Amino acid sequence: MGKNSVYDCVIVPLDKIHNRAGNITIIEGNKNVPFGIKRIYYLYDIPGGETRGGHAHKDLYQLIAAASGSFDVLLDDGKNKKIVKLNHPNYALLVVPGIWRELFEFSSGAICLVLASKKYSEDDYLREYNDFLKYKND
Ligand code: TYD
Repeated sequence: MGKNSVYDCVIVPLDKIHNRAGNITIIEGNKNVPFGIKRIYYLYDIPGGETRGGHAHKDLYQLIAAASGSFDVLLDDGKNKKIVKLNHPNYALLVVPGIWRELFEFSSGAICLVLASKKYSEDDYLREYNDFLKYKND
């Protein structure tokens, strides 16, 4: 888990079923997401200029999507960084364990949908960047 890199964090294209009454996108655990879904949460009412995240997880897999609007995700494995823009509800980002992430540049009204492989546990978080680097280098 500790050795995962930003290149393991990939965009997952999701089907979009379109008709004139609108679109629907379906996400199914262990089908188009490589983990069983244990938890779903969403970020909303994010004030302009705000940054979310700012931590890594030891074991948690997440799939992150802009259900509405857009935002950027900075991914950092301690050696490499990349920034991914999420701006389509049918393109999600898989974030594997052991990756520092920051979410920023939220558009007005953006909704950040997160599907997670485990229930919430504060013990799974690395909230200090130096602790994260130490975890990666151990
Ligand atoms: P946090 O994960 O730090 O937020 P973000 O990464 O979006 O900036 O969580 C913010 C607060 O919400 C923190 O006090 C923990 C709590 N929380 C839960 O209780 N359960 C959850 O499933 C999540 C994601 C957060």
